[in-house]
Amino acid sequence: MKKVVLAYSGGLDTSCIVRWLKDQDYEVICFMADLGQGLGHGENLEAIEARALAAGASKVYIKDLQDEFVEDFVLPALKANAIYEGKYLLATALGRPLIAKYLVQIAHKEKASSIAHGCTGKGNDQVRIEVGAGILDPHLEIIAPVRTWEFKSRDEEIEYAKMHNIPIDVTKKKPYSIDRNIWGISIEAGVLENLEQEPPEDAYMITKSPTSQASYAKYVEIYFEKGVPKKIDGKVYKLKNLISHLNEIGGLYGVGRSDMVENRLVGIKSREIYEAPAATILHIAHKELEALVLDRELAHFKELIAIKYSELVYNGLWFSPLKEALDAFVQETQKHVSGTIRLKLFKGNCVVVGRKSAHSLYKKELSTYGKEDKFDQSLAEGFIKIWGMPYKR
Ligand code: ARG
Repeated sequence: MKKVVLAYSGGLDTSCIVRWLKDQDYEVICFMADLGQGLGHGENLEAIEARALAAGASKVYIKDLQDEFVEDFVLPALKANAIYEGKYLLATALGRPLIAKYLVQIAHKEKASSIAHGCTGKGNDQVRIEVGAGILDPHLEIIAPVRTWEFKSRDEEIEYAKMHNIPIDVTKKKPYSIDRNIWGISIEAGVLENLEQEPPEDAYMITKSPTSQASYAKYVEIYFEKGVPKKIDGKVYKLKNLISHLNEIGGLYGVGRSDMVENRLVGIKSREIYEAPAATILHIAHKELEALVLDRELAHFKELIAIKYSELVYNGLWFSPLKEALDAFVQETQKHVSGTIRLKLFKGNCVVVGRKSAHSLYKKELSTYGKEDKFDQSLAEGFIKIWGMPYKR
């Protein structure tokens, strides 16, 4: 019997896939990555494992990959200031290559010839998982049942699950499609498909609505060392805990919501809303620190890289040579990115109110309008003449 490793989420689709693959004569091994999607809170891990087994899996792997996720995937993207189309902080997109990596690793360990996932044929995630896995091992067969199977609707899947005694929990289902990890939450479908409709409050899971937030502001100080966030308000945190903590604080002040229409790789425009409090705070702080310590040429060039980097992540090219080369470049740019940024959180906003760095390139004696001024203004005249010279007819 052929073996397949399935990226299992515990939801209806992947539970049906277990059984569906068994019907195609596969032995199914389920793999679930804990990327900080709240496992163990809403539902315990044993229940998820039991569901996979009840659906017909021969074995279930549940791995806590949060540390690897934040260190090896989130952090490089933060250092690169990677934001897709100016709004999306890439939480879902950054998780997929890690899932692909473990699908391949477990397939090797289990001597499985195939891997499978529950992504639809219309999204980016299928591309990210398949291209990622394909780079790591081009010989594995990849199965994407949702693209081809016979079910036309959720109700038909529920019918199928009932028929085969697959335990599912349909009651808790929100009217949205949600993907969550520690770096953020992606929410789409349902009423959000109407572009004119404001997202209902019940669509948001970790950020408080502006109307229910405190009417006073909260200040936070983030200390970075070589581009890595290390402390909040002077207290050292491990990266994963630092992110969780900022999610909590930011969430209370409604920071990190966005509502966008984005260009999917497959050519479809889609509307998605995001919640990413920690990611928003860290991106704002990191960029501000770079503004202080990077010279103009490096800073401006790095902005171009940021756009390219976000496209590579979004488009599933995490394991590509260009992404690796850009990482080396970005890493080189971070050697002076150390210092503290002070932020003010208030009613959904996160604004920089202070900055400090031993590597600061800001020279008050040059920028001041006071009498300590050391800038030789007489030099400006010659500079301007030469600078403007080529444009004079
Ligand atoms: N649009 C985002 C991306 O392509 C998220 C995709 C998953 N979204 C979801 N709601 N299930 O990365």
